Order: sequence, then structure tokens, then C-alpha cells
Amino acid sequence: MVFRSSFRGQPLVLKVAKGRGPEGMRQVSAAGQEVADEFAVLTAVGQHPNVVRAFAVLTSSLGRPALVLEPATESLHAAACRLKARDGWLAGRKSLVPLFQQFLVGLSYVHGRSFLHLDVKPSNILVFGDNRAALADFGLAREMVQETCYVIGSRAYTEAFRCPECLMAADRKVRLTCSADVWAAAVSFFDIFSPKDTNLWKMPPKTFVRETEEGTAGSIRNMALRVCEKAMPHDDTMMKILERSLVPARQRPSLSGFLDVTQKKAVRGSAAAR
Ligand SMILES: Nc1ncnc2c1ncn2[C@@H]1O[C@H](COP(=O)(O)OP(=O)(O)O)[C@@H](O)[C@H]1O
Ligand SMILES: [Mg+2]
Repeated sequence: MVFRSSFRGQPLVLKVAKGRGPEGMRQVSAAGQEVADEFAVLTAVGQHPNVVRAFAVLTSSLGRPALVLEPATESLHAAACRLKARDGWLAGRKSLVPLFQQFLVGLSYVHGRSFLHLDVKPSNILVFGDNRAALADFGLAREMVQETCYVIGSRAYTEAFRCPECLMAADRKVRLTCSADVWAAAVSFFDIFSPKDTNLWKMPPKTFVRETEEGTAGSIRNMALRVCEKAMPHDDTMMKILERSLVPARQRPSLSGFLDVTQKKAVRGSAAAR
């Protein structure tokens, strides 16, 4: 739960954790741990313009802990919905491309600091006014050791953004690298830049699980390309991102490769506008 507040005239946002523990006091202490963990990750990651800034952890007089954050205008998910509804799909896209690129820069910084985000999706990207975006919600983020970390597959990412290696692992532990966040970034790209009411998933992601990672990634990729061909038949950038990113972990592009594809689009987009 997130509340807007202010301190000495300075607007702030307070994030109060849900607390995944059982009812009562233990739930409050679980929430305290979640808030403390998220603050510790954000402190270890360090400040960057494209990573949400956390100032402190506060505890209310009732013992409820809260993370104090810089206030954003809205999430990128909300911005995309609003712009698609107001300006139509193509017009809305133009202002969203630079924000998505900033998110990629923020995520790349986080990876460079040896953390995996593990919950990449448009509602965890915040937008500040018209010109800045930052990655937020580090509640699942984990530090990598030798560029990997081990997590329970079903606990990382919201299902629609979950990579094949996590879908296949289900309730078992799986070894992840930055490529897991790259998969979620590609699905986020689809979410933001597809026309209003276009859904990537017609069936639950779990139904795409096959024997091998190649098979699982392949069936999701084929489904995504079919949706793309139908809803965005001339969108080469979308096609390229889905084709290159919805593949087994080892073959996924780096974030800088991803950024390059979106920049080519931006250049072509502005050339076409002239
Ligand atoms: N600093 C912030 N400023 C404004 N809105 C925020 C801020 N942080 C979060 N929100 C809003 O609250 C929502 C939930 O916050 P988030 O950190 O993602 O927590 P949760 O763990 O509940 O998903 C976000 O999708 C966004 O809409
Ligand atoms: Mg969230």
C-alpha cells in the first residue's frame, strides 16, 4: 500500500508493506522485515536517476513500518493506459519511448551493481512528470553472486512476465542471470507499446511449459509473434524485440542490445515525423 504524504512541505510517498506472515503481530514483523529488506537493497544499489530514491524507514506509533520514497506522478503502466486512451496508440507511443529507454538504463545500472530485480513490469516503473522514469519496487530483488542467483521459480515476477526457466522450475529453485530480467523487459515492452486492449496471453503462461527451455520459449515466442503480426503488422521494432528476446536465457540480448533496437526506432520515428 502506498500513501502520499509530506514532511516540512516536501511531498513524499510512504510504502507500507503487506507483510506475508500470519495474522497479528507476526504479520507486522514480517512487514517490517520486507520494508527493511527493500530499503537495504536500495541502499546497496545506490542512487541513480533511473532508480527510485528511498530516504528512510519510518515506524508509526502503532509499530507499522513504512519506506519513505520520492513521489512519482504515476506508474509507466498507468501512463501508457492513459496516453493510449487519450492520444491513440501511435501518438501515445512517442512520449513513452524515452521513458522506456530510461527504465532500461536504470535496470542496466542495477545489474551493474550485481542485483537482479526479479519483478520487472510496467507497474513497477515510475514516471516523474513528463521526462523521467525510474525502476521501483525492489521487494523481490536479490544480490547476485558470480552473476547468478537462485530463487524459487514461482516466487519471481508476476506470472505474465515470468521467463521460461522460472515457469519450468515452478516451486523448485532455479539459477537465474540478468537474462531473466531481460525477458520481463521484453514482455513489458509489448505491454506498453501494443495497441489498447491487445493481450499477449490468451492462455495462462503455465500452459506453455514444454519439456525443454527451448520448447517453452519457442511456444511463447510463436504465440507472441502471431499476436504481433495481427495487432501490429508493420511494427518491425516490436517484431525484432520479441523475436530476439523471447528465446532461451543464453541467447537473450544484453540490455544495451535491447536499448539499441529501441533507439533505432526512435530515430526512424522522428525522421518519419519530419
Ligand atoms: N514513489 C512512488 N510514487 C508514486 N507512486 C508510487 C510510488 N511507489 C509506488 N507507487 C505506486 O504504488 C504501486 C505499488 O507500489 P510498489 O512499490 O510496486 O509495491 P507493491 O509491492 O505493492 O507492488 C505502484 O505500481 C505505483 O502505482
Ligand atoms: Mg509492485
